[in-house]
Amino acid sequence: MHLHKYEKVWLIFGIGSLVVFLMVLGFGAFWQGTHPQSHGVTIDPENIEAHEAFQQENLGITQVADDKYIVNIVATAFNYDLGLDEDGAQVRNLRIPKGSTVLFQVTTPDVVHGFNIAGTNVNMMVEPGYISSLETVMDKTGEYTIVCNEYCGLGHHLMFATVEVYE
Ligand code: CUA
Repeated sequence: MHLHKYEKVWLIFGIGSLVVFLMVLGFGAFWQGTHPQSHGVTIDPENIEAHEAFQQENLGITQVADDKYIVNIVATAFNYDLGLDEDGAQVRNLRIPKGSTVLFQVTTPDVVHGFNIAGTNVNMMVEPGYISSLETVMDKTGEYTIVCNEYCGLGHHLMFATVEVYE
């Protein structure tokens, strides 16, 4: 087969661009490591209770100022642990007054989970070894569902909790 000179040049240019592209992709994705959106805050996944926020009594919602709340959550296969209510039952619903600023802090001791409050801008990946956090203002009343949007195993579809923003 005879290749025209310009064909050869463009072929080399094309392959060269592909190699450069793959190197950039590889550098960005693997060399520097992948991180959850919140970046950098690490935790020992074998011992998350060593971190104050994730001790059983500190899970769920805590009011920290007039219109400020912190919500600490442990995502596990296949549950969002929001702590226990006064009767010792698992909390499944968070009640938040409209207009509140809420800091969500989520971690997991097992596998990668998602944390998405459907219909809001709260959408995080939760990776073992990291604390994913995001602060938002809950300014629309309604019932929202927290869903896991990272496949985490057989019970993935059972992972949910609810948020109620009330007037
Ligand atoms: Cu947890 Cu899917």
